[in-house]
Amino acid sequence: MTQRILSADAGADALTLQWQDGSRDAFPWTWLRDHGEDEASLDPDTLQRRVDTFAIPADLTGGTATLADDGATLTIDWPDGAPASTLSAERLAACAGRIPHEGHLDRAGTPILWSAGAMPNALPSVAFDAISGGEAGLADWLRNIHVYGFSVVTGVPASEAGTVELAKRIAPAKHTIFGDYWLLSAELTDHGDTAYSTQYLEPHTDSTYYDDAPGLQMFNCLEFDGKGGESVVVDGFAIAEKMRAETPEHFETLTRVIVPGRYLEPGVHLRAERPPFRLDRTGRLVQVTFNNYDRAPFLLPADELSAFYAAYGEFHRHACDQENWLKIPLRPGMALIFDNWRCLHGRMGYVGKRVFYGCYHDRADFESRLRTVAAA
Ligand SMILES: [Fe+2]
Repeated sequence: MTQRILSADAGADALTLQWQDGSRDAFPWTWLRDHGEDEASLDPDTLQRRVDTFAIPADLTGGTATLADDGATLTIDWPDGAPASTLSAERLAACAGRIPHEGHLDRAGTPILWSAGAMPNALPSVAFDAISGGEAGLADWLRNIHVYGFSVVTGVPASEAGTVELAKRIAPAKHTIFGDYWLLSAELTDHGDTAYSTQYLEPHTDSTYYDDAPGLQMFNCLEFDGKGGESVVVDGFAIAEKMRAETPEHFETLTRVIVPGRYLEPGVHLRAERPPFRLDRTGRLVQVTFNNYDRAPFLLPADELSAFYAAYGEFHRHACDQENWLKIPLRPGMALIFDNWRCLHGRMGYVGKRVFYGCYHDRADFESRLRTVAAA
């Protein structure tokens, strides 16, 4: 809905705007001059700030407000002779928290959390041809990942080149210790990691030892001839929200305790630390991090340690509850991509041959595509 300002009342410290629904917000005069969208305040081509923030008097007051465009635009003339500032009602409403701001990912869709009793009706899925053939298919794919935390892709060429073609629709792969793209199969011995085996892998997030853990992980199935080996996906946000509601003390512990992760092999020592539940300033989940295989040794004061083990154990119990799992048997022609900041992934043990080709994407690259392609 277009935002409209009904009236503007000038006070000594701030300008109070009344919105179309009758509610009000006060904007300090200094802030208003700092946030002008006119050419003197903001470069119209780069949208970078031009106004000299640090020259604005801290006690600025006395602006004269005028509304235009049926309340969609506010202009302020200043008593000190500075160029008039113009702001849109849209920008003002977003900054006041009334509507999602221009970069808010939920403009691409509201996330749907899933767990026992509320699983997705059908696997979110998009055809390879739709993704490679145009922006609409790509937007559907990105929206699936944002809304459900994962998406299947069907009709993917079972080849390394096909994997790269698909991945590049989002962005170049994120380089890690495993390279840009990697083959995943028990026959490989390039890295001493449990992923390169046939054994059952508990649900986890990848790269807990990177400060900027990959935002996305993608696997394309090149070969499968065996039994078992289903990919497991678990909605970590759904588990965290369940804990926030049911055992808030455990939820709080996992937002507070900083857990180190590590990766060691000859010539490599990666390490990063963060809490299992990372929140934004509004308390909303940003990232879930959980990989007990890669947890580095750490010690806490005794009471804090027992709180941590209790909370971490509860998270693990939910993550390993098969009622919360989606088991996806990937076969040649199918790829799976998931949000590594939200979903945990695992694998059932298997016998036979299973070859995947995969990559990671940087979180920032994914978000950028989401904003420009899926939320446009
Ligand atoms: Fe993994």
